[in-house]
Amino acid sequence: MPVITFANTKGGAGKTTAVLLLATELVEQGYRVTILDADPQYWITRWHMLSPQNDKLNVISYVTQASIDRHISENRHKTDYFVLDLPGAQSPLLAKAIGLSDHVLIPIQGCAMDAQGGANVLELLRYLEEKANLHVPHSVVLTRVNSMVTTRALLAVKMLLAERKVEVLDTPIIERAAFRDIFDLGGTLYTMDENRISNLDKARQNARLFALEMLRRVPLHKPASLSKRFTRAA
Ligand SMILES: Nc1ncnc2c1ncn2[C@@H]1O[C@H](COP(=O)(O)OP(=O)(O)O)[C@@H](O)[C@H]1O
Ligand SMILES: [Mg+2]
Repeated sequence: MPVITFANTKGGAGKTTAVLLLATELVEQGYRVTILDADPQYWITRWHMLSPQNDKLNVISYVTQASIDRHISENRHKTDYFVLDLPGAQSPLLAKAIGLSDHVLIPIQGCAMDAQGGANVLELLRYLEEKANLHVPHSVVLTRVNSMVTTRALLAVKMLLAERKVEVLDTPIIERAAFRDIFDLGGTLYTMDENRISNLDKARQNARLFALEMLRRVPLHKPASLSKRFTRAA
């Protein structure tokens, strides 16, 4: 069961939103998902209390550096994907979370490009690789991208990051009212009312493409040749 961690040491980058979109879409695709909520604002936990029960989705609150290993081992048999939401500031959990992740996603606000919080995470990933020989696959996901931003402008941002050898997801997460409202309403993009939320169809399509790309990048069953990390952890 792969662990996907969302990390950016700056609040407001769109981590928690991306966690919820990925987790609910993976459930929609039939996977069993456990969200590990380590964000002290507990948005996911609050959303979960508002939402109808779903057997495929498990939310664990108050996850800390001391408890995370236990949560993962206790839930591994009923989970296909773990998705971890980290605090929006430097936290002792960050290095530990990176160490146990199969993929680290770094949400960076596409239009603002004030990427310092993301750069901190990238630096830590590089440090762990150099000093501890720990290679954790990671990529940037551009978030809160204005729907009017052109493909060409996005390509420019991607090329800038590629020059620094940073992988960027093909699917950016667009700024959508539905992605805000889901936290107030509970449920998922599929239980929302199309007549009341603007561009809900586009929001659904965006979340789906994002999750499908993550499924390609972090497949549930890795080919034998790629399963080194997995066997090491088993
Ligand atoms: N794609 C998006 N579309 C619309 N609003 C967004 C989007 N991503 C984040 N937001 C809003 O921005 C704020 C910060 O997002 P959040 O996901 O909580 O970031 P973080 O977890 O990194 O602090 C929240 O009010 C959230 O509703
Ligand atoms: Mg958050």
